[in-house]
Amino acid sequence: MGTHKATRVGKLIPSGIRRMFEIAYERKDVVNLSIGEPDFDVPDPVKQAAVEAIWSGRNRYTPTRGIPELRERLMAKLQAEGHRAEDVLVTAGATGALLVAMLALVDPGDEVLLFDPYFVAYPNVVILAGGVPRFVSTYPDFRPNLAALEKAVSPRCKAILLNSPNNPTGAVWTKDELQALVDFAEKHGLTIISDEVYELFAYDREFVSVGTLTDRALVINAFSKSAGMTGWRLGYVSGPADLLDDMALLQQYTHASLNSVAQFAALTALETPITDHVAELRRKRDYVRKRLSGAFELAPPEGAFYVFARAPGDDATAWAERCLEAGVLVIPGNTFSRRDTHFRNFVRGQLGGAREGGFHPVELRRGVRGLGVLRHFCLTKAPTSRLLQRGKKRNMVFRPGIKSPGWQESPPAEADLPHAKISGVSP
Ligand SMILES: Cc1ncc(COP(=O)(O)O)c(C=O)c1O
Repeated sequence: MGTHKATRVGKLIPSGIRRMFEIAYERKDVVNLSIGEPDFDVPDPVKQAAVEAIWSGRNRYTPTRGIPELRERLMAKLQAEGHRAEDVLVTAGATGALLVAMLALVDPGDEVLLFDPYFVAYPNVVILAGGVPRFVSTYPDFRPNLAALEKAVSPRCKAILLNSPNNPTGAVWTKDELQALVDFAEKHGLTIISDEVYELFAYDREFVSVGTLTDRALVINAFSKSAGMTGWRLGYVSGPADLLDDMALLQQYTHASLNSVAQFAALTALETPITDHVAELRRKRDYVRKRLSGAFELAPPEGAFYVFARAPGDDATAWAERCLEAGVLVIPGNTFSRRDTHFRNFVRGQLGGAREGGFHPVELRRGVRGLGVLRHFCLTKAPTSRLLQRGKKRNMVFRPGIKSPGWQESPPAEADLPHAKISGVSP
């Protein structure tokens, strides 16, 4: 007799990014433009603070809401930035915050407005809470479209999830755009959940937090991107005290406590600017934009670590497989979208040079040039073997013989989701 499995597991959409991570982990001979991690290591003073926390015995459970010192320091940060939040809750990364936020806001059958493209976790956390993701397309310019939102909103909608700077498009939304979304949410009685994990990575315009525009939003942030602490699993969410009380109760039974060492180290992370790393990422962004804009139609990469480009023939899966055969990892758009016309590149890595910070050396220059060459060969429909020969001569493209991972990442069709119907609107 087979083991019984809960239906919610079958409703989840496996993440294409995890699969890329596994390929990249096994295959050191590929140029990896796929994974969304910062390419700088945790700053030394933060590592030191973690070591000291361990040796001074900070190894026990902490309060469910986070250690008081950190919550106070976070409130001071938010107030200095003009936030209108009443309270803050420390969480297990931004992902932990997203989960408890959805569990607190969504009843089975309730709808949540998500912009498409979206970060891969979003539809899944909605589904985990028993809700229904309702997608609103931002193609082709990746700006919010109020007419499309008005068409999508229904009496079952409880929340709207925003993400600026955006993964995967790199868009940074303006104060006016965010204010219009705040007004829209107020008009329809929706709670805004604003994922601001890339707040430090806005290159062309000032980052505006939704938390400065309203006191009713849940604003999610984390140390993952801003201090390179992706593996330490620490984030926070600020907003109205009543909602945070509910989320703290849920957190008690989903996480019990948070990583104590990471919380003490986070106090130091908040005093450790990463301005040089941001400047370096901007330089890489400029390089990637310049190199790729001749060959591809690009969404303006205004922030985060990503460049979202249109795939040849509007078939991102075929394109990603071709790139992989040639040894470059990019992610097809259907990992983040109900469409598969674009692909995501990452601007992390080195523009050449030696290994850095314990990361696998990613030669951004080689990878990005390789994409340009691949694009040319796609247009001329030349076989990959010729491309590889030519690339080898020019030291541009990569190792042959890498097996395609078999992309199956697009969200299941409505028929495949018996209990959580996914619906959407594309303007
Ligand atoms: C937009 C966005 N939100 C949340 C996360 C996850 O953050 P954390 O590692 O803090 O859970 C990511 C990670 O890539 C992300 O891109």
